[in-house]
Amino acid sequence: MEADSPVVVVANRLPVDQVTDPDGTTRYQRSPGGLVTALEPFVAGRGGAWVGWSGAAGEAPEPFESGGMSLVPVGLSEEEVDRYYEGFSNASLWPLYHDVVEKPEYHRNWWDAYVQVNKRFADRAAEVAAEGAIVWVHDYQLQLVPAMLRQQRPDLTIGFFLHIPFPPYELFTQLPWRSAIIEGLLGADLIGFQQPSAASNFINLARRLHDLPYKGNTIAYEGRTVTAKAFPISIDVSSFDELARTPEVLARAAEIREELGQPDKIVLGVDRLDYTKGIGVRLEAFEELLEDGALEAPSTVLVQVATPSRERVEHYVTMRETIEQQVGHINGVYGSIAGPAVHYFNQSMPREELAAMYRAADVMLVTPYRDGMNLVAKEYVAARGDDGGVLVLSEFAGAAAELKQALLVNPHDIAGVKAQLLRALRMEPAETAKRMRAMRRHIKKHDLDHWASSFFESLQAQA
Ligand code: ADP
Ligand code: G6P
Repeated sequence: MEADSPVVVVANRLPVDQVTDPDGTTRYQRSPGGLVTALEPFVAGRGGAWVGWSGAAGEAPEPFESGGMSLVPVGLSEEEVDRYYEGFSNASLWPLYHDVVEKPEYHRNWWDAYVQVNKRFADRAAEVAAEGAIVWVHDYQLQLVPAMLRQQRPDLTIGFFLHIPFPPYELFTQLPWRSAIIEGLLGADLIGFQQPSAASNFINLARRLHDLPYKGNTIAYEGRTVTAKAFPISIDVSSFDELARTPEVLARAAEIREELGQPDKIVLGVDRLDYTKGIGVRLEAFEELLEDGALEAPSTVLVQVATPSRERVEHYVTMRETIEQQVGHINGVYGSIAGPAVHYFNQSMPREELAAMYRAADVMLVTPYRDGMNLVAKEYVAARGDDGGVLVLSEFAGAAAELKQALLVNPHDIAGVKAQLLRALRMEPAETAKRMRAMRRHIKKHDLDHWASSFFESLQAQA
């Protein structure tokens, strides 16, 4: 592999996953989650390199070209998948950074694997980056990479972006390896967060744990200036908008309504099946409204699409069982021969199908307990070129700071969620359109390009 890429993205996952079919053949499919959704168009547009894991345990496949990008796979052994990915990344850091919604576990052998794998990613990036290149490292799985990379390649300009929340001092300091993580991040020139409060949590930690001098959003560290700032992420609004206006998607949206039995109202949830997303809250609120007689099924239906995620991590296994029981219970009590009350899909869907669902849904329910941003909320708004549809949005999603015309809810307050859901279902079309137009105006200005270029410009200014 030649060191010739002027722009290198380093993320835990490649934008495509290697999957093996039952007949033994391997193929690639799009990886799940908001990070890939956000970065793929950006890297492809610049002909950059993307260093990441293929999603399967074993030797790294050879680098290959895909969609205008050079993809550089990093291999993980079975044990590393278990300890670095499922363990430290997704059973220590993920719950810790999401307000300890579930209890994080800390194990020394998970940490050792995290260090080892971060080093491997840093080595790969150092191999492919051209002299003076810009390297952009992503997310909680790779927080040690900036410092490891700087040690090998001081010529590089290094940016880091955290896609998930960054916790306050009182929570972060639970982590036995808290100082090493802060030092890892300080290897970057620019550290981006979703929210200003996350950036100030970081500065506060650097100051209190390492006694570092700071001024505004900059920290003086080892003769360099490190900037920590908020860059709220977005989606490719115009391409999603266009997709949702195509005759095929509009026809499919009408067909979805028909296949659901022409209900008066469709309520939709779309998430990775993750305990931070508050899927149970939605089901509970919907069930209580049916029980109260405020709603009737199947004239009002809830469609919940939940992509399988991190299926070997314990909290995810139990959560899936709970959700499936809840759905079964609601349908047992409130479904009829005419159809169920809740349509639940534990599947990933093509983007065209998601766009059609967004178009068909009268109300979109996004109720995470904590979420860095939540791109689903932005996709829903982008898809509603007809100015229809009401967004019910958790105040604990980063998106709530921008989508102010959504009906905001506290997901811990079931009565409040029920009230806002009813309000959404009963909203007059004129108010619906007014709110949707205002949110669309905002995201059209603050789209993916705006996010990536403002991060990039700030990073280049540090070079
Ligand atoms: P997270 O990054 O935590 O998964 P986001 O809402 O920020 O949450 O991003 C999720 C991304 O995954 C969105 O682009 C969304 O369209 C996509 N997605 C979510 N559920 C599905 C699904 N069932 N099928 C296909 N894509 C999905
Ligand atoms: C979130 C994280 C990403 C992650 C994605 C999917 O968006 O911020 O880093 O890639 O979820 O999760 P997975 O564990 O399947 O990569």
